[in-house]
Amino acid sequence: MVGDLAVTDALANVPFFSGLNKKLLKTIENNGKEVDFKQGVTVVKQGDLGVGFFLILDGQVEVRKGGKVLAKLSRGQFFGEMSLVDDMPRSADVVAVQPTRCFALTTWSFSGILKANPEMAMPLLKEVVKRLRSAQSAPTS
Ligand code: CMP
Repeated sequence: MVGDLAVTDALANVPFFSGLNKKLLKTIENNGKEVDFKQGVTVVKQGDLGVGFFLILDGQVEVRKGGKVLAKLSRGQFFGEMSLVDDMPRSADVVAVQPTRCFALTTWSFSGILKANPEMAMPLLKEVVKRLRSAQSAPTS
């Protein structure tokens, strides 16, 4: 694919946003902002208090913990949802390994949307569990 993903298209493809109507997706778009990260930049730092959810519009990031790469995420994928759900510090570093453009949403915006649209919870939970399973089955050394 050439060029960035449009925010509303990207949102519509995230499992837990996909059930929302266009008007709400537009509201979400208006509540967040697009942010660019240079290659090598740590977007999210393990242990920090998280204040945002990020959806990747272009580029690639690596999720790193204890010297291991837990996942590579790219266009259409997201990160930062864990701290947003439990208000705990960031569980891993997320580093831009390419110039990366994200759509960023603050915790309070995301929480408000989630509370108003509880049907988002199950698909969100599914993705979190999927990540947990893959982290558990990853080699430990
Ligand atoms: P959060 O804990 O807010 O900040 C770090 C993020 O890395 C986390 O949210 C998830 O979005 C992401 N992350 C953590 N562990 C994994 C994993 N095993 N697979 C994919 N992404 C992960």
